[in-house]
Formats: sequence, C-alpha cells, structure tokens
Amino acid sequence: MRERGLTALTKKLHLKTYGCQMNVYDSARMADVLAPLGYALTDVADEADLVILNTCHIREKAGEKVYSELGRLRPLKVQRRAEGGDLLLAVAGCVAQAEGAEVVRRAPHVDIVVGPQSYHQLPELIARATRAAAPGGPAPGRGIVATDFPVESKFDSLPQQSEPQDVSVFLAVQEGCDKFCTFCVVPYTRGAEYSRPAADILAEARRLVTLGAREITLLGQNVNAWHGAGGSGGEWGLGRLIRALAEVDGLRRIRYTTSHPRDMDDDLIAAHADVPQLMPFLHLPVQSGSDRLLARMNRRHTADDYRRIVDRLRATRPDIALSSDFIVGYPGESDADFAQTMDLIAATGFAQAFSFKYSPRPGTPAASEPVQVDEAVKAGRLAALQDLLRTQQDAFNRATVGRRVPVLFEKRGRHPGQLVGRTPWLQSVHVDGAERLIGCELAVDIEAAGTNSLAGRIVTGETTGLGAVAMGAAGMGAAA
Ligand code: 5AD
Ligand code: SF4
Repeated sequence: MRERGLTALTKKLHLKTYGCQMNVYDSARMADVLAPLGYALTDVADEADLVILNTCHIREKAGEKVYSELGRLRPLKVQRRAEGGDLLLAVAGCVAQAEGAEVVRRAPHVDIVVGPQSYHQLPELIARATRAAAPGGPAPGRGIVATDFPVESKFDSLPQQSEPQDVSVFLAVQEGCDKFCTFCVVPYTRGAEYSRPAADILAEARRLVTLGAREITLLGQNVNAWHGAGGSGGEWGLGRLIRALAEVDGLRRIRYTTSHPRDMDDDLIAAHADVPQLMPFLHLPVQSGSDRLLARMNRRHTADDYRRIVDRLRATRPDIALSSDFIVGYPGESDADFAQTMDLIAATGFAQAFSFKYSPRPGTPAASEPVQVDEAVKAGRLAALQDLLRTQQDAFNRATVGRRVPVLFEKRGRHPGQLVGRTPWLQSVHVDGAERLIGCELAVDIEAAGTNSLAGRIVTGETTGLGAVAMGAAGMGAAA
C-alpha cells in the first residue's frame, strides 16, 4: 500500500493484513475510511496510534497468529499508557467475525473487534474506544465488539478511492458465500453471497484507472457467482461484466478470483476467447480428485465435471494457465482418495497451486466428523502433492524461456535498476529497466526461469498493443 502524501495527517495507522486478497482490498478501504480522520499509514507498529490486524480464520494456524501478534503488541500499549498516551488496538477480519467477544476475553487489551461487514463504522468505533480510554471515561480494556451483519452494504458506505493507485489493484465485486463446503468457515465469517451492482463496479474501475491502475483483479469469495442488474435492466453474469470492463479506457488487463467450478458458465468461458484484456489465467479450486470426498465436502461437482470444464477452457483459450487449491487429509481421506487427487493433478497440469492440510474449524460440519486423518499422514501426503505441483510449476515456467512475452511492469525490484512485472500467466518477471516504465506493458525476452519467477530482457522500443505479442499455445497449456 502507498504512503499517503497529505501533510495535514497527524495520526499514524499500522495495518497488518493476513490471509486472502479480499483482506488486502478491505485493508486499503479501511485506510480510505480513516484518512479523513487524520490517519496516515506507517509500516512501523511502534510508532502507530492505531494498529489494525486484519485477520484470517480459514485454518487454525492463521487464527493463532493473531493472538501471538496481540501478545507482542501488549507491552507497547502498556508502555504508551504509562507515558500518558495510548495505542488503540483493533482486530478486524474473519477472526473478529468468528470469535467476537472471545477475542477480548483472550486478549483484554484489544479496544475494538470489527467484522468485515462493519468497516464503514470504524470512525464511530474509534471515537467510542478513545472516549473509553480517556481519563475519567469508562474503564478501558472492555473492547467494543461490532460483528453484526448490518442492513446497509459496506460497499455503499465506504468512501471512494482518491489516492494514487498501484499498477495492479483489486476490486471487490462480490462477497460472502452460500456454498457451505463442509470444511470452510467463509459462509459464517463473510455471510451470504452479495453481488455489487454493475454500475458501481464500473464506476470504481474507471476511478482506479484514472488514479493509475492498469490491471484490475475482480475479487470475490465466489467471484464467478457474481450476478447483477446490467445497464439495460437485464441480469448480467461475470462474463458480461468483464466485457463491459474491457470498454474502460486505459485498463489493459483484467483478472478474477476466486472461482467455483459450478459457476463456470458458457459466457464466462467464452469471454476468455473474446476479450483480449482478460488474462489467460484461472484460479479454479477443486480441493480433491476423489468423487467420494467431493460429495462429502458438499462441493456438488465430480472430478470429471472439473476435467470437462478444463477441457472447455482449453478449447476456448489454448494457452490458459490453471491454478487450484487442494486439501489433503480431509476426514476419512483414504490412500485411494489421495491417489485420485494426484491423478487429477498429473492429468490436468497446473501452472501453480495452493495446498493445505485439512484444519478442523469450529462450527463447520467436517470438524465433528469422527474419523480425522493422522497428522503424520497429512504431512506425508502434502509433501508428495507439493512435489508434484512444484514439478509442474517448474516445467510451466521453463516453457517460457526463449519466448517473447508481454510484461506489465508493476514496481521496482529489490536490486537497484531492477523492475518487476507479470506475464499474462501471472508469472513474476525481473528485468533491468528504468522506473518510468512502471505501468507500461512491454515485450520481454525471457532468458531464465525458477520455480517462483522468470528473468528476462526488455525488447527495446517494442511496446505491446493488446495482443500484439502473440503467444503460441504450445508449451503454455498443460505444463506436465
Ligand atoms: N482446512 C484446510 N484448508 C482449507 N481451506 C478452506 N478451509 C480449509 C480448512 N478447514 C482452503 C481451501 C480453499 C482455500 C482458500 O483454503 O482449499 O479453497
Ligand atoms: Fe469456502 Fe466452499 Fe465457499 Fe469457497 S465455495 S468460500 S471453499 S464454502
């Protein structure tokens, strides 16, 4: 996130973000809400007047991290108060939503617990917390908890972005989930599926581009379940929304995440062929290759349904790169179930993927399944699965070496004179280049590949008109 340039800002806000991209988007919006109150962002917790931890509850480890961070912040708050000042501590995000008052019970020095639907209420919550902490005010240490799902939409109540934006930005179009996969807390922490109206999304996209964005990633817990009233009154799906976004002047690249296989409709798949700005990359979680487990997870699709979607996508856009999420050690997962997941990976070929050991989450149906898989078995399966995925990712990246690809430059690299950008297939690319090229899409000859990034050389003088640098399909589809 960028530092804000206003000199009138007097207070410092430290925002620490855990978990998914929706939290990254929400953190930026919290900074937008608090800027008019005089809060400027700082990377240093020690100098902050307000620390917000924007938390993740998806797996147990993610949740526990919050309490260790709160433990680290406690002495800082104690010291501030001893000096006659204060440090306000807020816990936001999915741990706040799921645990509510329990957060304050476990960490009584927390001032505010605020769920993801209530960020527009932050100014009021901060005012109340400040009054509580003031001399003569109500006793501090009884944190304020705001975790109701309010009737108004937070999107309508958040201020518009007005600060310069990064080259690649997120735009939330949808929030919440009605799918109720048996392992997942999201339907409980983020609530029911909600789609923002198309007109609001298009207005935000235009604003983001005016402020410097060149790539927009549409976000939602179930982004391809997005549906909304279109311009002429009819109902739009995500494919139609993407076509409308492609008309936004100056927007070079469009992506969307995270999708559910059940919502990959024909129009969205067709958009991958018709819309040059829509990047040939799709994150499509499948979780398991075993039909028995998929049914028990309440995924409501089979492994073959997934294979058929991949076939249709590749027929439409032969160079599309695929990513997915996998869970190993779901309750009752047998060796045979796991072998089917490995088969699906081997047959599909992923450019990248995320994989996790199943983590029982309180309140979800899978957590009370009687047959939990042994931790050592989970660890062994995860290692084998990640080995296979790494091999595929390596092969996918190696297939880019020797090719000329369009790269959108996003920021400076770690070394002086270095730039970092991305290919259409979401690979990071490092090149030597001048800072003024940030925001440009240029042709790059790829010279080397590692598991996590590529290195190359800018083809001098050659900018890429959309689609001007044609990529053949060979070697860019199935990586294995
Ligand atoms: N345990 C492990 N992984 C999980 N995920 C969601 N819930 C759990 C859980 N209880 C994974 C799924 C999902 C990704 C965001 O996190 O793979 O797609
Ligand atoms: Fe969780 Fe399933 Fe909804 Fe994804 S689709 S957010 S895994 S319940």
